[in-house]
Amino acid sequence: MATRSHSEIRERFPALASGYVFMDNAGGSQVPIDVIEATTRYFHETYVQVGGAYPASIAATENIQLAREFLRQFFGDDVAQAQGEVILGSSTTVLMNLLADAIANQLPAGAEIIVAESGHEANVGPWVRLEDRGFKVTLWPIDSETGHCRPETLASLVTEKTAIVACPHVSNLLGSVEDIRTVTAIAHKVGAQVVVDGVAFAPHLPLQVLDWGVDWYVFSTYKVFGPHMAALWGRTSHLRALKGPNHFFIPQDGTAYAFEPGGPNHEGCAGIRGLERYLEWLAPGGKQAAMARVGEIEAPLTEQLLTFLNSKPNVRIIGPKDASSERLPTISFIHASLSNAQIVATAAEHGIGIKSGHFYSYRLCKGLGLSPEEGVSRISLSHTTSQFELEKLFDVLGPILSA
Ligand SMILES: Cc1ncc(COP(=O)(O)O)c(C=O)c1O
Repeated sequence: MATRSHSEIRERFPALASGYVFMDNAGGSQVPIDVIEATTRYFHETYVQVGGAYPASIAATENIQLAREFLRQFFGDDVAQAQGEVILGSSTTVLMNLLADAIANQLPAGAEIIVAESGHEANVGPWVRLEDRGFKVTLWPIDSETGHCRPETLASLVTEKTAIVACPHVSNLLGSVEDIRTVTAIAHKVGAQVVVDGVAFAPHLPLQVLDWGVDWYVFSTYKVFGPHMAALWGRTSHLRALKGPNHFFIPQDGTAYAFEPGGPNHEGCAGIRGLERYLEWLAPGGKQAAMARVGEIEAPLTEQLLTFLNSKPNVRIIGPKDASSERLPTISFIHASLSNAQIVATAAEHGIGIKSGHFYSYRLCKGLGLSPEEGVSRISLSHTTSQFELEKLFDVLGPILSA
């Protein structure tokens, strides 16, 4: 199968034909035609209840199973598929609340939880709230210069009682990839489980949950060119030790349904299977190869955007300033005299969608000494971003950012 050209890839995303420049991809990406068609087909042909013996219902049941199978592989490889389960939910925030609650229900009294302050609130708040249930929750503080939660700091915080370490793989403000292997090694030394928010990582590079050694890993499919849902991978052995919130007669045997009250979104599952088709089309060699191709396409775009922002003396990039394999194209910045509102309004006037604010990384903003209300301006690219779009961004923002 031939490698797809960038123009072929863009043609696959109908929304891009409008000419509008979507650069808030860390907020949510566009979807390829495969996702749109799969969802439409589902409504046309299979929009019935699951679990029946008639053909449409059999297909609807299979639809969920196949979406889950695809995601189990998306999280890693065949081994990840064999050792883990995927819980589907409406969002990462919902899944993290569900997980924190299920874990808290079986934690021994006196257990301790460590939470990275650099995280999106979805993987902070649900754990911090467990303080109300008597658990000791420690914030893993950021380094105020870089915004990173340093592994050495974690090593000084863990104790024999630490049960959970929750952290982001990539902050949705900083855009840099954290050393999850080291975090996991530190946590596992004291027997703690690691819960990783991979929402800002998953749209850019292949997932390798077993290689990283994590216990739980979550991402939102609507930021990975799919429908508005989220998926949580957990080791089957951990899942077996928990009780899910589904009805009492649903088997609590380590399978995902115990954690999916009401079941997953059916048409969303069809969209996820459309995403599988898109990745198969994108690159030969499976999901990992397709996501590696995404990373390859994005790397030069990241470099150009950083070079542009670094050339403006009054711009301060929040996060690493240099391109590297550990730097993703989610780039936040502030300007010495312009407000973020002025920057995003100028972009919008010229047909470019970017956003500003704290992006729910409220604690990180505060820790960096930024006002969360003002936050940052954030430009987040995707493998669908074109050279033309990037140059348009530079033409539009160049004059005001040079001020
Ligand atoms: C890093 C990160 N984590 C978690 C979330 C929350 O995801 P969801 O909207 O699926 O709850 C977001 C959303 O922007 C995010 O960027």
